[in-house]
Amino acid sequence: MTRAALVTGAARGLGASIAERLVEAGYRVAIGDVDLDAARARAEQLGHGAIAVKLDVASESSVEAAFDAVEQAVGLPWLLVNNAAIMKAQKVLDIDIQTFDAVISVNLRGTFLACQRFARRLRAQDKGGRIVNIGSLAGENGGMATGAHYAASKGGVHTLTKVFARDLAPFGVTVNTIAPGPLDLPSIAETIGAENVPRVVANIPTGALGDPRTVARMVVELARPDAASITGATIDINSGLFMR
Ligand SMILES: NC(=O)c1ccc[n+]([C@@H]2O[C@H](COP(=O)([O-])OP(=O)(O)OC[C@H]3O[C@@H](n4cnc5c(N)ncnc54)[C@H](O)[C@@H]3O)[C@@H](O)[C@H]2O)c1
Repeated sequence: MTRAALVTGAARGLGASIAERLVEAGYRVAIGDVDLDAARARAEQLGHGAIAVKLDVASESSVEAAFDAVEQAVGLPWLLVNNAAIMKAQKVLDIDIQTFDAVISVNLRGTFLACQRFARRLRAQDKGGRIVNIGSLAGENGGMATGAHYAASKGGVHTLTKVFARDLAPFGVTVNTIAPGPLDLPSIAETIGAENVPRVVANIPTGALGDPRTVARMVVELARPDAASITGATIDINSGLFMR
């Protein structure tokens, strides 16, 4: 049986890597992104029936419209990966409240909205499913070089995951967080400045940025139908930067 998956923010970066791995694992993938042109290009590159949908996770109407479009094209997904986020590196004294609100709105409100609207649809069709939320090391320890808004939004995502996991467990829906450390992706230099990347790498116990494909493989594992007992977990993939 071909299962469908919606990956948010998958036009590039980690989401694109997750989408690619899901296609390899046999999923029909929907790429939801605010950047529709980039999402379309990515879907075309992926092939295997991958589709692109316009999605702003911070908007209620956009989230509903995206789920409608995905359901129509490939059916109700088995898996939702909440990956879309805005990353900002700013000192607390420099954060203006508009930026604070924007980061919380996309990263935290957006994750809540997508989880809730997906779960409602699964319930309406009496179906189980899987949700994987992409959190961050910053959500556990404040991060190495990110801002208070980003870290707080990701801490919120880790907590949301646990509450959704508890509430949705009776319906056969698991909800987990993957909390990556700094990954080998363009966004890191874009967020903290290329000149600061060596300083970050120097502090990483394994001596290297994480490989996004490792995160992608973990998504596939968590999405397995026989992974029903893994729920409410925060799975660290952080190159040894933070240990529980
Ligand atoms: N890159 C890292 O080192 C790192 C580390 C830890 C966690 N993460 C997390 O991994 C995820 C992906 O990070 P990335 O580095 O690939 O980021 P990125 O900036 O490269 O990609 C983010 C994608 O999300 C999309 N997006 C932004 N706002 C959106 C919205 N409102 N609705 C839908 N799509 C939207 C963008 O268009 C883009 O395609 C994020 O949740 C991030 O917090 C990344």
